[in-house]
Amino acid sequence: MILVTGGAGFIGANFVLDWLAQCDEPVVNLDKLTYAGNLANLASLDGDPRHVFVRGDIGDGELLARLLAEHRPRAIVNFAAESHVDRSIHGPGAFIETNIVGTWRLLDAARAYHASLDESSREAFRFLHVSTDEVYGSLEASDPPFAESNQYQPNSPYSASKAASDHLVRAWHHTFGLPVLTTNCSNNYGPYQFPEKLIPLVIHNALAGKPLPIYGDGSNVRDWLYVGDHCAAIRRVLECGRLGETYNIGGCNEMSNLEVVHTVCDLLDRHAPRASGGSYREQITFVRDRPGHDRRYAIDARKIAGELGWQPAETFASGIEKTVRWYLDHAGWVENVTSGAYREWAQANYADRKG
Ligand code: NAD
Ligand code: TYD
Repeated sequence: MILVTGGAGFIGANFVLDWLAQCDEPVVNLDKLTYAGNLANLASLDGDPRHVFVRGDIGDGELLARLLAEHRPRAIVNFAAESHVDRSIHGPGAFIETNIVGTWRLLDAARAYHASLDESSREAFRFLHVSTDEVYGSLEASDPPFAESNQYQPNSPYSASKAASDHLVRAWHHTFGLPVLTTNCSNNYGPYQFPEKLIPLVIHNALAGKPLPIYGDGSNVRDWLYVGDHCAAIRRVLECGRLGETYNIGGCNEMSNLEVVHTVCDLLDRHAPRASGGSYREQITFVRDRPGHDRRYAIDARKIAGELGWQPAETFASGIEKTVRWYLDHAGWVENVTSGAYREWAQANYADRKG
């Protein structure tokens, strides 16, 4: 079996669902259930003996030692993190706690467990750390995309905390011999993404008749990847990635935020036309920029393609259509996650951004 952390969040839940759809190897899923973790994402696994959910913190060393001794996983896949740049600007503390201190505790527990294994299990064991392209900083329009050899230049509290966690993972390999793999992926989109991130936020606000807030002039560029393609890449790295290596994962799909929002509006115009007529594009509002807003991210994914044969299966056109339709078909899910605390966050983040 494998231990997945953060498996009730956006990418982790997609990973667990895809994993169990493709094989019968059980998953122990350790998640703290922060605002971003949601058991409804895993509702289709209710009663499935292959999925064991444990509510807990990756920073809880005793719990980790107990879980590892009890379930004896052959791998740990670490998704657990605070993941939203804007929240890291409002309150960096939780990012330091989970992304840095939590990763350290998890590495230490994994190290002790790894040392306790017999030789063949020790050989087979893997610790896969899921990270982000944001650790590389920001590109100018003419710069080549991020390669694995790029210098780390994180600019936000979020990316700095992820960069620190990547360094810890690297050090636990070089110093203690822990068999690690690290993946650095670009922006994901798809089902179960919490509607504080750009694409689900725009879908949610559009349907609610609210403004679609674009930071700055909307020309910042991201390299968008469908979440199912990210999960497939992680499975591939887990299976045959070289120990101690990092792999960049991206969709080869650079778009400005304005282009992304236009695409979403056009799909909504087709699948859920506004009662009042006109396009959802009319709801677009330019608001004050994010402080330190990185201009452009782009991934050079030649290493994972060449070494491990991974390529994205979805184009942006096919992935975004699936995604918009998923949100239209899952209004109940959106309703559940956007109650109470969500409204307080939206109030705090957008109140002082008037255009
Ligand atoms: P998310 O915020 O949707 O989910 C994070 C999950 O981790 C939640 O279920 C949360 O409850 C859990 N969690 C948080 N703190 C925890 C703790 N201390 N102990 C246990 N569980 C905890 O994030 P996501 O978008 O699914 O991202 C998952 C991982 O992928 C993160 O490490 C993130 O840095 C990385 N990543 C995300 C993207 C993206 O576009 N979303 C891109 C590249 C990399
Ligand atoms: P986000 O989904 O928060 O991902 P990240 O900051 O990790 O790339 O944001 C994606 C892009 O969209 C980023 O350039 C910021 C921008 N953005 C907006 O313009 N408006 C918004 O309301 C949000 C949440 C993001």
